[in-house]
This record gives sequence, C-alpha cells and structure tokens, in this order.
Amino acid sequence: MAGIPEDPVAEQHDLKRALGPIHLIALGIGAIIGAGIFVLTGHAAASYAGPGVVVSFAIAGTGCLFAGLCYAEYAAMIPVAGSAYTYTYATMGRFLAWIIGWNLVLEYLAAGSTVAVGWSGYFSDLMAKQLGMPIPAQFDGAPFKLEGFHHLVATGAYFNLPAVALVALVTFVLIVGVNMSANFNNLMVAIKLAIVLVVIFVGFNHIVPANHQPFIPDNTGTFGQFGWTGVFRATGVIFFAYIGFDAVSVAAQEARNPQRDVPLGILGSLIICTVLYMLMSWVVTGIAPYASLNVAHPVSQAVDAIADTRWLTPYVNVGAVVGLASVVLVLLLGQSRIFYAMSKDGMIPELFSQIHPKFKTPWRGSLITGFFCALGAGVLPLDILGELVSIGTLLAFVIVCIGVMMLRVNRPKVKRPFRAPVIWLVGPLGIFMCGFMMVFLPLDTWIRLAVWTVIGLIIYALYSRSHAKPARFKLEDAS
Ligand code: ALA
Repeated sequence: MAGIPEDPVAEQHDLKRALGPIHLIALGIGAIIGAGIFVLTGHAAASYAGPGVVVSFAIAGTGCLFAGLCYAEYAAMIPVAGSAYTYTYATMGRFLAWIIGWNLVLEYLAAGSTVAVGWSGYFSDLMAKQLGMPIPAQFDGAPFKLEGFHHLVATGAYFNLPAVALVALVTFVLIVGVNMSANFNNLMVAIKLAIVLVVIFVGFNHIVPANHQPFIPDNTGTFGQFGWTGVFRATGVIFFAYIGFDAVSVAAQEARNPQRDVPLGILGSLIICTVLYMLMSWVVTGIAPYASLNVAHPVSQAVDAIADTRWLTPYVNVGAVVGLASVVLVLLLGQSRIFYAMSKDGMIPELFSQIHPKFKTPWRGSLITGFFCALGAGVLPLDILGELVSIGTLLAFVIVCIGVMMLRVNRPKVKRPFRAPVIWLVGPLGIFMCGFMMVFLPLDTWIRLAVWTVIGLIIYALYSRSHAKPARFKLEDAS
C-alpha cells in the first residue's frame, strides 16, 4: 500500500507485510512535500528569517527525526487505526488521548485547510497566467489577513472559492470510496519531486548573490522578527513542511521488516526532504529578494522574477496543483480515520463512525470533516492556519515522546516490533526540539492553541468523559 488504503476504516490487524524500505520512503515523501515548501517558505522568509530559513529547515528536520523514531515505536506496538490518539488511549488513559485526538484535528483537518489554501494560490496563478482566466478577486482569498503580528485587516475578498471547491471534491472522493492505486500515488510523488528538483537545478545557476546578503537579516528589535530569534520562529512555522512523516510510522505494521525498514523509511524520507527543502529555500531566496516572497505562490513568483527561469512558471504551477491536491486527500483521509477511532471509543458521537451501506466509508464523519475543512480554507489566511497546525502537532509529538519513554518504564516487556534506538537520548531530544519550536512561535499562536484547548476541554467535560468506553486495544506482554 504505498498510497491510499482501500478501506480507510479497516482496523489493521491482518495487513500483508508487503512494504520494503523504498516503498516506505516514497510513502513518506508523498505525504510530506506540500504547502510547507511551496507556500510557507515564502511567509517564513519574508516575515521572520530571510534567507536564514535554510537553517530553519535543518533544525526542524532534525527535531522531526527524533520525534519520528518515538512515533514509530508506538505505531508498531499498537497496530490499529487512529494514529497517536489510539496509542495514547491504550497507554495513558482517555484524558490525554482526548487532548492528543483534539490536537490531531489540527494536524489533519486544519492542515487540510492550510494545504487547500496553498493549492488555491497556485491554481489561481495558473488560471490567470497560463489559461488567461483569472479568478475574480472577491473569490480568490480569505476575507481578512494578518498585518504585522496582531492586526487583522479586511482584504475585500468574500471567501476562497478554489480552496473550498478542492475540499468539496476531495470530500466527495473520500465518501464514494477511495481506491487509488499505488501507481497513481507514485505518479503524484514523482511529479512533485520532479518540480522540486528542476527548480533546484535550474535556479541554482541563477542565484543573485546580493539576495543572500545578509543571510540572516538583523533583528528588527522585536523578538522573532529576523535575527536568530527569527530563524527559530521560522523553524516552528516551516515545521509544517515535515508533517506527514508519521504516515511511515502508521504503515509500520505493513512493513516487511519493521525493525529495520521503519527507521529507514522515516530517516530516509526526512533526510531527503530536509536536503531538498534546504536547497529549494536556498534557491528561492537566491533568485528573488526574500521580502517579495510573502505571496500565495512564492515558488512560481520566484522563478518568474528572472527572465532565464521564467519558462519554469507553468511547470511549477501545474506541479504544485497536482502535488498539493494529493496532500489534501491524504490529510482528510487521515482525519476520517482518527474521527472513526474516537467515535468507536465513544469520545465523539456515533455518527462519525457510521458506515455508508453502499460506499462502505464513514460518510457522515467525512462530510462533517469536509465542511469544517472547507470553512477554514474559505475564510482563514494561510499563515494563521499554518502556525496553528504546527503548534498543535508539536504538542502532540511532545506527548508521544513522553508516552514512549513512560511505557519503557511501566511496561518493559510489551512486544515492540520496532524499538527507537537510544530512547533515553532520542526521547528527551524529541521533547526538547519540539518544545523549542513551540516556544518560538508567536504569542498569538499560543493564544489560539489555548482557545482551541479550552474548546476541547469543554467538549470533553460535557460529552466525552461520560460517553467514553474502555480502551479497545490492550497491550500484551511478549511471551
Ligand atoms: N507537510 C505537508 C505540507 O507541507 C503537510 O503540505
């Protein structure tokens, strides 16, 4: 299954062990490359780090490596649907499971909105420049945007129509049942990768050295606005670009040799993406001044800035449109699985796990997911969405790293098909790096996370606490 599983709600006890290291690396790269590199790089460079965003990519990639290894240990140990939510329920109880599940809604559903907004930036550019049919400005963006750090200003637009349309289409595909072949997924991955590589190779020869000077622009006097604090803040923002590597951990139970291949899949896809991201951000900030990149389609904006690379613009637009759409599909599919698992546990109403008699998919859950995803994509600007997704996911990863270490102490004998190497180093480093990225995110993002958490706690207190059933998955000691 190097792509979309046939049955998104199947509990994964009896999956064939068919995946080798190359499949796992392809799966990881397919899920990882998306709006992070294609869109948020521009925002992070223009607002926080300048060309220093290259360093941010190196730091974030390293942090993901540690968290990813912990994630993989959990995933291999608890082979049922639901990702980190299910692992936490089985090991740390329903309250923390709820907190994780609630944050995973940010990782999947809100990330789906973010990538859809990113997709619309490239789609609009494609429509305007290549097809000569610009989308009217009222329907081409969020109704407001963030100016500076705190001020929301009206943009004059009503809502982001292309982003909403994409989410509607993806939701439809998920409801009628998705059965995409591994080949189709591989084709999408190949297109994305090809575009990234072409931009790197062509752009490398056209870098304007002055654009990289100064490499880390001086801090403006405000924490997080350029200088090293800006580089660190950008790290939390572009962390988004790495989200998706957990797809490799989730496939742990389908790996032929999980102990060897899962770390290879995680490390391989993360290292490849880190190198590609560093090179791509080096090139993009090298061919266009970083201050010009805070736009909806920074990569095509950058190649358009120089006559010699302008021919690349349509290819970048098409590649981003294909590649980003596939990421939205993977994210919303993941969300429907998590809601399904939470509903089976009684954490959220039963309708989230009701299966359509004909399509055999959790159609009501997918419809609700699609509705909220479209709402976010239609009215929220990408920078607010992206930073919120990053902070929520980072919190979930911190809890995963803690949980894996706790289990090593509390349940040392549980069968672990994959053990994270040197856990007492890898675990704390995962917590430290993810915590570090969180600390540097803007205060507004923390406030939004707090609001999100309070809403989650209210739902937990009013509904989930009294409806939750005992954890379905019990850990068993190795015989
Ligand atoms: N990592 C994925 C992206 O950048 C979510 O779009």
